[in-house]
Amino acid sequence: MKIGIHKMSFYVPKFYLDINTLAHARGIDPLKYTNGLLTHKMSVAPFNQDIVTLAANATLNYLTKEDIKAIDLILFTTESGIDYSKSAATHLISILGLRNDVRALEMKQACYATTAALYFAKGHILQHPESKVLVIASDIAKYGLNSSGEPTQGAGAVSMIVSREPNIMVLEDQYGIHSEDIYDFWRPDGLDYAQVDGKFSNEMYKKFFLKTFDNYKMQTKHTLDDFAALTFHIPYPKIGLRSLELVADKANNPSLFENFYTSISYNKYIGNIYTGSLFLSIIALLEQGNLKAGERIGMFGYGSGAVAEFFSAKLVEGYKAHLNKELHEKQLSNRTELDMEKYAVYLTRKVTNDTVLEDDLDVKVQLKSITDYKRNYQNN
Ligand code: CAA
Repeated sequence: MKIGIHKMSFYVPKFYLDINTLAHARGIDPLKYTNGLLTHKMSVAPFNQDIVTLAANATLNYLTKEDIKAIDLILFTTESGIDYSKSAATHLISILGLRNDVRALEMKQACYATTAALYFAKGHILQHPESKVLVIASDIAKYGLNSSGEPTQGAGAVSMIVSREPNIMVLEDQYGIHSEDIYDFWRPDGLDYAQVDGKFSNEMYKKFFLKTFDNYKMQTKHTLDDFAALTFHIPYPKIGLRSLELVADKANNPSLFENFYTSISYNKYIGNIYTGSLFLSIIALLEQGNLKAGERIGMFGYGSGAVAEFFSAKLVEGYKAHLNKELHEKQLSNRTELDMEKYAVYLTRKVTNDTVLEDDLDVKVQLKSITDYKRNYQNN
């Protein structure tokens, strides 16, 4: 049975900070960010957007009545959870009007969890071929003011439907996995911001990429020539490029580099969206690139702590017709730029209990209030 990604879309909040504004404010050469990290803008979430609303807004870009009838599993992946107990997935049942005989849960292993969710979704569909699985990746990445990770923040969600006979790509069966108990990036209980050992995290990312790619190649006997593109988890785009350079060179594999640059064309204007960032780059590659049906894409999922997986998928005939290119481009070009003062407020101030937020006609789904520690959402 062919199982894979049937629909995929992303949503980012309406605010962004230009990376040059940040560089000037911090007294850093802007070229360090634009050339050194290959990043240009970072999405910033307003108070009325949390992981639930980002996820709901991304899903509403494509959700149909047929999808609602068929979705019997929601896998919500995040590392910016809003409750220790109740999963963010349960909110989507009421906001999106999903079935009540649905399994709804939240999964965590840093940015890797979405890759695991695709694997579990596939297993579920093997048992229940008629079902569709809603796989969500939604995060708000915050390292704090004046931190080393500050230029690598962002916010957004990717929403996907996994089904049999998918319209976009078929997930292949082989994968290379590597896991170790390390502290490269983590956010302990009680801290609002991630802790990170920046240099070590870069080294681990590249080591895990080589291990999982080698492992995958050993199983499949595939070589670089078997891939139209290699895509990466993108905490910031330069690390993807540096990893690609470990296994390929521009002279012999020019198209892998061309496709890499295409794949970061949304990430570099959005920033790190943690769990969704690999899938954001896949959306960019499919929407902005020229890959053909039948071609294979390699994908590297990495989640600090750390678990990594290299896996692959093949494109389906007519896949372009099932993307949301214009909607995504419009979303990115309609955003509002923030100055440093407003950025600092959105980054540091939290929505607390007993708060009522104003109606926001720019968004479909918004956080309306928190009362008795319950979040109330509004679908405009
Ligand atoms: N002009 C052009 N380039 C410049 C420059 C200038 N004036 N100054 C510096 N650079 C270049 C450097 O040469 C370097 O490029 P290369 O990697 O190609 O050599 C690049 O800019 C970055 O320079 P530094 O390494 O000196 O930057 P830094 O010490 O400020 O740290 C960082 C960068 C480690 C990424 C930091 O931003 C950080 O900690 N980010 C968060 C952690 C992270 O994203 N880690 C990635 C792996 S972990 C992961 O993937 C999980 C996750 O989602 C977090």
